[in-house]
Amino acid sequence: MHILAISGSLRAASSNTALLRAAAVLAPVGVVISLSTSLAELPYFQPGNYDEPGAPAVAAFREQVRRADAVLFCTPEYVFSMPGVLKNALEWLVPSGELYHKPVAVWSASPSTTGADQAHAGLTAMLRVMEAAVNEGAALQVGQVSGKVNAQGEITDKELAESLRTAVAALAQAGNTTNSAYQATQG
Ligand code: FNR
Repeated sequence: MHILAISGSLRAASSNTALLRAAAVLAPVGVVISLSTSLAELPYFQPGNYDEPGAPAVAAFREQVRRADAVLFCTPEYVFSMPGVLKNALEWLVPSGELYHKPVAVWSASPSTTGADQAHAGLTAMLRVMEAAVNEGAALQVGQVSGKVNAQGEITDKELAESLRTAVAALAQAGNTTNSAYQATQG
């Protein structure tokens, strides 16, 4: 079972990326979580423009998503929205459809008490329009994240660590179920 983790933050010291790295460590046996390549490698989305220099990066990103059993997003919020770099990445997946019926979970984190709720809502809505299988049981909004992750990117809050573990287990179960159903249809 392989979960692709996609962070909406490009910052080296990102708390959102730290949550995804922590999830990889906390994941149950048999569940591998790997971070996607940096979303900064992707060119700006333009419908139908597949011959530009960034095309190999787009193809590689699509392939990473296609091969994953499930996708885990963790996003910060910039001015009440998801970061442009994350929306751009998702736009590249609209015409090719790698997220169609793919089990996905939305996490968000912010130093404020809101836990980046606006970005969380916007990302969830976008994934629903793309007909991804959004798993509500695996959703998380982490407020005041600065006090819960240390400078090394380790989770220092026991409750948060437990929430991450539970959410990963829920997403992994959804990914396993979809995978079994797919294999059944393939005979
Ligand atoms: C922010 N931040 C922010 N936070 C929030 O909860 N709601 C918001 O609307 C915004 N808007 C915003 C705009 C801009 C331009 C910046 C630079 C920052 C703060 C943001 O949550 C904070 O920088 C996080 O630490 C970013 O996440 P990473 O990079 O730590 O994962």
